[in-house]
Amino acid sequence: MIKKCLFPAAGYGTRFLPATKAMPKEMLPVVNKPLIQYGVEEALDAGLTEISIVTGRGKRALEDHFDISYELENQIKGTDKEKYLVGIRKLLDECSFSYTRQTEMKGLGHAILTGRPLIGDEPFAVVLADDLCVNLEGDGVLTQMVKLYKQYRCTIVAIQEVDPQETNKYGVIAGDLIGDDLYRVRNMVEKPKPEDAPSNLAIIGRYILTPDIFALIEQTEPGKGGEIQITDALMKQAQDGCVIAYKFKGKRFDCGGAEGYIEATNFCFEHFYKTGKAY
Ligand code: UTP
Repeated sequence: MIKKCLFPAAGYGTRFLPATKAMPKEMLPVVNKPLIQYGVEEALDAGLTEISIVTGRGKRALEDHFDISYELENQIKGTDKEKYLVGIRKLLDECSFSYTRQTEMKGLGHAILTGRPLIGDEPFAVVLADDLCVNLEGDGVLTQMVKLYKQYRCTIVAIQEVDPQETNKYGVIAGDLIGDDLYRVRNMVEKPKPEDAPSNLAIIGRYILTPDIFALIEQTEPGKGGEIQITDALMKQAQDGCVIAYKFKGKRFDCGGAEGYIEATNFCFEHFYKTGKAY
């Protein structure tokens, strides 16, 4: 079964400059928790306990976050402030963390390929931590996807309907409906102009990938923006075998930009922080 979850976190986060000049985008706090912690919690909820993170220069704070701070622990031991660290301690107790560095930022596909030595030859999940996903009504998005993987045993990408004018921000799919909110992917285009988009079904930052994706990424030439795009490798996988797109249940906030980040902050403040579920 799937145990591993890869977090590509080496990007420059240019949309959030200057905040991301010296701080990883994935460490931006949504209320009191960094983005990446929400992602790791979602992975653990789905039973994924082996966390692999692709980092880059200036991203050391990520490793420090998933470690014990002895001074701090000692300082707050026995006080009512201990509760603030309960959530992160649970992650440290129940997950393992391993890291590798992407030395040149050649795109998401390349970042995933960089994670290959940490993943090996098994299916794995990928989380882009700047997409914060929540589902107040039931299973988290990765849990929903792991359940689907058990049924279909092939690559699964999470999709959502977006404003047709915004297709140029996403990988966009065309597919045949094969079940409730499920499509078998026929076509996939990276960041199409609205007039060229095959639909308004956009891929967001949650994937379950079968390991043959690595060889396909290796064969992928740089595409849009000179980057090695995961969408191009997925398109080959869809042509040769099977890729399923799943319209997930829940909400997704694009925290890579100011608008989604503020929406996520308000949402988490209301539903987690004020209700005492934020630690
Ligand atoms: P984004 O394009 O959203 O991230 O990549 P970015 O490049 O950091 O942000 P902007 O657009 O400049 O503001 C999606 C994900 O892929 C990772 C990013 O860290 C992010 O989680 N990524 C992207 C890498 O790890 N390496 C890359 O070379 C590119």
